[in-house]
Parts: sequence; C-alpha cells; structure tokens
Amino acid sequence: MQQSRTRVVVFTDIHFTTAQPENGIDPVERFVTGLRHAIRFVPDIDHVVITGDLTNRGDLPSYQLLRKTLEEHETPVHLMIGNHDNRENFLEVFPEAPIDDNQFVQRILDTPHGRLVFLDTLDAPPYDYPRSHRGFMCDKRLAWFDTRLEEAGKQGCIVFMHHHPHPVGFRAMDTINLTNGDAFYAIAKKHGNVRHISCGHVHRTISGSHHGIPFSLFKSTVGQMPMTFESMNFQIETDEPPAYGIIDITEDSIIVHTEDFGLTDLAAIDR
Ligand SMILES: [Fe+2]
Ligand SMILES: [Fe+2]
Repeated sequence: MQQSRTRVVVFTDIHFTTAQPENGIDPVERFVTGLRHAIRFVPDIDHVVITGDLTNRGDLPSYQLLRKTLEEHETPVHLMIGNHDNRENFLEVFPEAPIDDNQFVQRILDTPHGRLVFLDTLDAPPYDYPRSHRGFMCDKRLAWFDTRLEEAGKQGCIVFMHHHPHPVGFRAMDTINLTNGDAFYAIAKKHGNVRHISCGHVHRTISGSHHGIPFSLFKSTVGQMPMTFESMNFQIETDEPPAYGIIDITEDSIIVHTEDFGLTDLAAIDR
C-alpha cells in the first residue's frame, strides 16, 4: 500500500525575461515544458514551488510575463525570490503573494507531513550589484525563521531558500551564497526539527548534508553551472538539459528526485 505522503515539485531559477535571452534559451518555453512534463508524469502533486530567480532582471514586464504564463495553467505555484529578483516589483505584480509582517517574501505552509518554510534571502534594497547577488538574512528575517521553527515544535520542517546557506565547492558561487549562513544554521540546529533544506541559485544538482541537516539543490530550467569548481566566473553557464526536483515527504523519510525533463521526448512517450 502506498504510504501517505506530501509531494512537492520544485522548479528553480527560471529567469523569465521579455528581452532577447543572451544564451538563446527561451525561459518561458523551458518552464512551460517542464511544468507540463511534471503535470503529465508526476502523479498526485500537492505543491509546486519556484525557489527564486523568477526573472533575470527583476523588471515589471518580466513579472507580468510570469503572471500571464502561470495563469494559463491551473496548477497553483508558490513563488519565492532570489538575487535576480526585485522584491518591490514582484509584489506589485503579485500583490496577493504571502509576506511576513516586515514585507519580506516569507511564509509557512503546514502539510499533513510537516511544515514547509519559505525564506526570503535577497540582500536588497539597495539593489547594489554585484553585492546584491549574495544572500543575506537580516535580524528580522532570522527572528521570523526562529519563531516559525519554535512554534512547529516536534513537527518536522522543510526549508526552501534561494541561496545555499553553506559552501558547496564552486568557488565563484560560494562567494555569493548566504553570507550569514552561521546565523542561519544556529537557528536551524537549535530547534532540532529541520528535516531538509532545498535551495537553488547554483544552477546545478548538488546534495549532501551540513551540520547534520540534509540539503538538495536543483538545476535551473535555463543555463546550468558547468563542472568548474575553480572558476571565479559565477555567470558561466552551459546548456545542459533543464530539470526540476521532486521532494516526497512522509513520516519516515524524505525522498528527493531530479528529472532532466529536457531529455524526454514527450511525443514518443505519449504515442
Ligand atoms: Fe539563477
Ligand atoms: Fe541566484
């Protein structure tokens, strides 16, 4: 018998833009193909999450394009922001998006198998690049995180955040991860109820554990980070197949899948 579970499909770094993409990849086509793939092949999806970098430049037309694209599909999607986003423009186009008491794009979602915690790690305003490409959680956001974990008690929590909160081995990307990861982990470890952390930002499939807490990063739907541990160019990318993640949460386990949907010939499978 199938064990009861909560199933979360995770897209990340969809980088919508109304401009001509420099890499020649159409982000809308990629995301829609991935979403259709998930709806077609992944049964019983409970939630779909996009863990930030919703747009490439945080401009209003790109958010409007995202809104229009999402409205063409019935599946509700939880939106998060990353370093390529603009919080104010995002909230102008998505005014119904849940926020915390301090206007940060943070929220919780309680499921039958635990609490999903969505964090806002954007280090802006001011939007001052390249500094704002790094992640940061101010004291207000950390306090909100602390309270949400404390009130969860024995209920397990899955944390979603754009920036990876600890180094992952890519020199360039590790200069723009969550710069106060120690403060993050002090809270995450304190309550003993964080079961998993899901991030984006690196545009690469990476998993492991840090301070005993398992984590997973998923590939983007657009360009991917090539195997260049030592490069100091965090803009480098390659057109490896796009992907999304699937996180199945049960009482006993968390199973993480990645699906390189760009390798699938949908027409052949559907015949
Ligand atoms: Fe990104
Ligand atoms: Fe990012």
